[in-house]
Amino acid sequence: MWLKPMLQSIGIVADYWILSDMFSPIEGFLDPIEGYALFMLAEQGPGVGCILEIGSFAGRSTSYLAYGSKRARREKVVAVDHFLGSPEHRGGDESAFRMNGCGLYEMFRKNLRLAGVEDWVHTIKAGSEEACVGWSHPIRLLFIDGDHSAEASRRDFELWSPWLIPEGLVAFHDIGMFPGVTSYYETLLAQGAVLEILSVGTLRVVTKTPV
Ligand SMILES: C[S@@+](CC[C@H](N)C(=O)[O-])C[C@H]1O[C@@H](n2cnc3c(N)ncnc32)[C@H](O)[C@@H]1O
Repeated sequence: MWLKPMLQSIGIVADYWILSDMFSPIEGFLDPIEGYALFMLAEQGPGVGCILEIGSFAGRSTSYLAYGSKRARREKVVAVDHFLGSPEHRGGDESAFRMNGCGLYEMFRKNLRLAGVEDWVHTIKAGSEEACVGWSHPIRLLFIDGDHSAEASRRDFELWSPWLIPEGLVAFHDIGMFPGVTSYYETLLAQGAVLEILSVGTLRVVTKTPV
């Protein structure tokens, strides 16, 4: 009676450490526990539809998401990024993204290959506003981690959330870290448009349909 839950708990802890070891070397801003939450949502989250990520950078969060979805043999991750960096990281210096002699996009591709998830990611190398033109696929998990200004966060939510399936989830990163996305997120909650169901580090997950 006690053995099964105990083995499940050990499995969860083991997964956490294995994934942390695999993906922490990838350049990025996501904590291992936030990455693990994304992995769980990708593997076990509700509904049928793709996972849409806005803001992939070097592929750390993309790898967590794709690994979860691939392990469950579910839909691929669609990664949207222009790979020009975000204003808050760029600081006007494009060379910051030329690490080890390769650009951000090349580094992203290489990291996905090394993580063994390249075949589970469809990349759209474009800005969020350009990428959504002509989009017509249901989304079960929308992860917003691109430009962290309030205006861009609102734009990303309003552009992509209409494609969420009824039980779909939206994850925002860097809440409490960057004032723009934080104030937009608080407005969204205050409007009653969404309900928070998970808070891990600076990751917040909401649903449009209270469960
Ligand atoms: C914080 S990083 C993403 C980190 C990544 N999610 C992770 O955890 O590993 C933000 C990324 O958003 C991208 N970005 C910024 N504005 C964007 C936009 N309008 N459309 C798409 N991507 C954008 C930048 O190029 C950058 O790679």
